[in-house]
Amino acid sequence: MSLVDPASSAHSGVAFGAGKVILFGEHAVVYGYPAIAGALPLGVQAHFERAERCQLLAPQGLNEKQLALLQQAFGKAAEVVGLPKVCVRLEARLPMGAGLGSSAAVSVACAKALAMAAFPGEEGGAWLERAAPMALCMERVFHGNPSGVDHSTSLRETLLWFCKGQAEKLSSPAPLKLLVAMAGKRSSTKSTVEKLRERQEKWPKHHARLFEEIGRCTEEARGAIEAGDLALLGELMNVNQGLLSALQLDSENLTRGVHRLRTAGALGAKLTGAGGDGGAIIGLFENPEAAEKVLRAEGIECFACQLAGPRS
Ligand code: MEV
Repeated sequence: MSLVDPASSAHSGVAFGAGKVILFGEHAVVYGYPAIAGALPLGVQAHFERAERCQLLAPQGLNEKQLALLQQAFGKAAEVVGLPKVCVRLEARLPMGAGLGSSAAVSVACAKALAMAAFPGEEGGAWLERAAPMALCMERVFHGNPSGVDHSTSLRETLLWFCKGQAEKLSSPAPLKLLVAMAGKRSSTKSTVEKLRERQEKWPKHHARLFEEIGRCTEEARGAIEAGDLALLGELMNVNQGLLSALQLDSENLTRGVHRLRTAGALGAKLTGAGGDGGAIIGLFENPEAAEKVLRAEGIECFACQLAGPRS
């Protein structure tokens, strides 16, 4: 687990927060059903060094509202560890606001940097434990009442089974390879989650049926991952996409993108994260690099990655 650049001391260094993709169970996880999520190699780096006071230098390109929210979240997390005298500078190497866990990556990178600055004598494992509640505290400022799957995956940097605040590492005997593609701009996770909550409160029975079915699909997917059954896993991704669509969490852009991934050879494809009017989509492939070339030539922003399993 890459907690810190090996060249760093705890008075200065670089802490990493990974981006994530949700393979199964987004949204249902907010209602207590399980989710499966994997960490991306892309993420956010928090460069930190001693300073006169505790401060955050935000990345370029944020609007006033985003900036205020980020400073508020950082301030709350820093208070948890007594406002260590450190300056943290963020560098994002992940599409922001696309459904790939950028806010969790920011939260985890900041929380790790603050933990390392506040407790320089400690080891990696202890910093991780200290960083977890700080990252959740930041996520609450960004999202209101998050399930915790995003920052847990970002922090653990592995394939996770997540349910009701408990996380468990999953192993796959087969290489779990994805193509991640962008399918248009989207609204914030907070507003998509809130709109779904309004519909759920209006029609609770109908939503309970859909969430239960997503939960069953996620449990079956765990079995498929542990058995290395990629064909079944792909099929279940398609089913999960259908259920997200029934919850009105997809859009024209997302649906078109998901179909494009399937015609490019995906064993299964779905939106990932909050969805709504746009965001990111994922396709399960045996060889995502070939599809990546084809889609890039069509002007689709995408990248291949492996979440788990043996690497060749
Ligand atoms: C967002 O990445 C995942 C959601 O399930 C929200 C959450 O789990 O808090 C949509």
